[in-house]
Amino acid sequence: MSTNPTCIQIYDVAKRFDSNVVLEHISLDIPKAEIFGLLGPSGAGKTTLVRMIAGIDVASSGYVDVLNERMPKLSMMRQIGYMAQSDALYMELSAKENLTFFAALFGLKGAECKQRIDEVMELVNLTSDLKKQVSQYSGGMKRRLSLAIALLHSPDILILDEPTVGIDPVLRQSVWRELERLSRDGTTILVTTHVMDEAYKCHRLGMIREGNLIAVGTPKKLMEQTASTTIEEAFLYYGGAHHEN
Ligand SMILES: Nc1ncnc2c1ncn2[C@@H]1O[C@H](COP(=O)(O)OP(=O)(O)OP(=O)(O)O)[C@@H](O)[C@H]1O
Ligand SMILES: [Mg+2]
Repeated sequence: MSTNPTCIQIYDVAKRFDSNVVLEHISLDIPKAEIFGLLGPSGAGKTTLVRMIAGIDVASSGYVDVLNERMPKLSMMRQIGYMAQSDALYMELSAKENLTFFAALFGLKGAECKQRIDEVMELVNLTSDLKKQVSQYSGGMKRRLSLAIALLHSPDILILDEPTVGIDPVLRQSVWRELERLSRDGTTILVTTHVMDEAYKCHRLGMIREGNLIAVGTPKKLMEQTASTTIEEAFLYYGGAHHEN
């Protein structure tokens, strides 16, 4: 993994909303083909960080480079698949119409477009609901459709903000098998999660607490460093009173 070139480089990033400091001194390199997981309590700053990497928001100071391009940069949209924490779907349209809309945005056309729509919908197990209006989808179905859209243009980089919320365990497993396959084929994957068994599947983890990146390492290393037997224990250690700030 360490032989791979850097895909995402975050250098001394801070983010403020008015006077409220939400992130500070975040530096992190993510190599190509890594599955990197961001963990942290609710409100820690995970979504704020991934939004800057996806180019949806801009750092107050420091910088984010993706494939050596300074973010935000509109043309990087084609390289990045971003799944937001709250679904950004057109409720009055069918799933197929949503997919077709985003496919056009990503420059997919004709037979390739149709084939990719079929592939991603099969992956998230929504093939039989392709023509249904999204307003009639359940919460988990909307999540799955958002994931399908993020995967649609086979991006080099996938940024997934809590992708498996509301997705049942069987499908969650097949989603993770697909993420692992994509990573083996060279896709870089940044994922936020509160689910500990997903954290184990990441090659490296970053723990965010109150806007600071307080630990980065493989799940094994983080457990060793905290003398924990589970990631959950390590997480509680870093999130709890043991941390010297
Ligand atoms: N647009 C905004 N304006 C002001 N404050 C914001 C804005 N977006 C986020 N924040 C604040 O930034 C902090 C971090 O929020 P963020 O959404 O990044 O947390 P998170 O780690 O993703 O949490 P969760 O696990 O609940 O999704 C919170 O205190 C939040 O209120
Ligand atoms: Mg969030």
